[in-house]
Amino acid sequence: MTESDVSGQPKLEATRRVASSCPFHTTPEQAALSKDFDAFTFMANPHPILARARQEAPVFYDEETDYWVVTAYDSVRSLLGQPERFSSDIALDPMFPFDPAVPEVLTEGEFGARPFILNIDGEEHSEHKRIMSKVLHPRAVADREDDIRLIARRLISSLPDDESFDFVERFSMVFPALVIFMFLGLPEEVVSDVNRWADARMELFFGELPLEQQADEARGMVEFWQFIERHIDEQIDDPGDHFVGDLIRLLLSGEEEITRNDIANYCWTFLFAGHETTTSQITNMVSDLLLQREAWDAVVADSGLINPAVEESLRMNTSVFNLRRRVTEEVTIDGVTIPADSKVFVVSGGANRDVAEFEDPDHFTIGRDNARRHLGFGFGEHFCVGAGLARLQLRVVLQELTAAMPDLALVDGAERRFINNAFFCAPRTLWLERKA
Ligand code: HEM
Repeated sequence: MTESDVSGQPKLEATRRVASSCPFHTTPEQAALSKDFDAFTFMANPHPILARARQEAPVFYDEETDYWVVTAYDSVRSLLGQPERFSSDIALDPMFPFDPAVPEVLTEGEFGARPFILNIDGEEHSEHKRIMSKVLHPRAVADREDDIRLIARRLISSLPDDESFDFVERFSMVFPALVIFMFLGLPEEVVSDVNRWADARMELFFGELPLEQQADEARGMVEFWQFIERHIDEQIDDPGDHFVGDLIRLLLSGEEEITRNDIANYCWTFLFAGHETTTSQITNMVSDLLLQREAWDAVVADSGLINPAVEESLRMNTSVFNLRRRVTEEVTIDGVTIPADSKVFVVSGGANRDVAEFEDPDHFTIGRDNARRHLGFGFGEHFCVGAGLARLQLRVVLQELTAAMPDLALVDGAERRFINNAFFCAPRTLWLERKA
């Protein structure tokens, strides 16, 4: 087995040993961090503990989840750039083993989603990514800008002027869903069903769901899958002008070697990877700008600041906060040796606040020089396929919202709730009002 430092830095020796029952804690700081870190609740306020980790023990082993937590920007970026040593094959695994009823429900419902794009490596990954990028190419995305803007305007015009409202419920949950639906050719009426199924999937795979609730959530996933299959069947004879239509045309023409199951998996992946992520990013962006009021006012006054504000939002509070990898050979990261086959919790959202990379990282600084070096869309082989579409949506939302509601403000003291899960910084409420 080889041993080397992932960041290319000389290996630092971990000098202090601690009396701990866990052999993986080699310093008191690592042991203390493992004790204080709770993967399922830290998302409501992640940055204090991550700043402490970067200073005291940038890599530590979390006993509760059996993951090695990597927090520093250089190490995160470096490991994401080495897919052979850091496999994505665990990227979507459930955090805890399922209740035995779950596989039964999935088998009975002929649930056909399988390891796909996000959790495969090598040539198979490159091949699927090539096809996905083909249907999601920049021109296809740009062609839809006017339609996307109309959706944003319609939803914004329905927001109340004279009372407070939950922006998540009224806007950010709905807008990206309608955009993805337009790209997939799905009817708008099913938005609330899809939102419900998406929550079921997130809690089942990435949360700490009690065993007795798991089978119910699995039924929701089966419904979701069957819904996608029906949609593809309905399109086969007369494919429409959207992604699913494009994919079916590729299948029927034989131009690409894809199957009906592949198409269902592309849709499943788009609905999953393209919806909740964007919902939360829009929420985080609006919330951050309003919290730092002068930043919001600056964007209202100068629309030229919108693109840099979008990038800064992706750095400051990225919705896809943690990624996962499995190490394929023993590695040393920031002086800590991680055995082969271990699981790594890659805190890319936290790395975006590393002071070693970003000056004054807790400040929303519109137009910082290196803003685009954020890891909000990942890095390397698995870099987000939908980054162009996501950026376009964020830009349109900010343009339309600042134009229509320049006096928007946070409701003082309103409770903020987050979905308890280990990967997505996903606020479930954002109470806003107009202050005119
Ligand atoms: C602001 C919104 C979004 C954020 C923050 C985001 C973030 C990410 C991140 C961090 C990854 C890398 C995952 C990894 O390395 O394990 C990723 C991958 C991916 N994203 Fe996004 N994403 C967003 C929107 C979208 C949209 C709109 C779509 C599609 C319609 C999409 C589709 C995908 C797909 C298919 C992958 C897998 C790429 C691969 O494995 O090669 N994402 N995204």
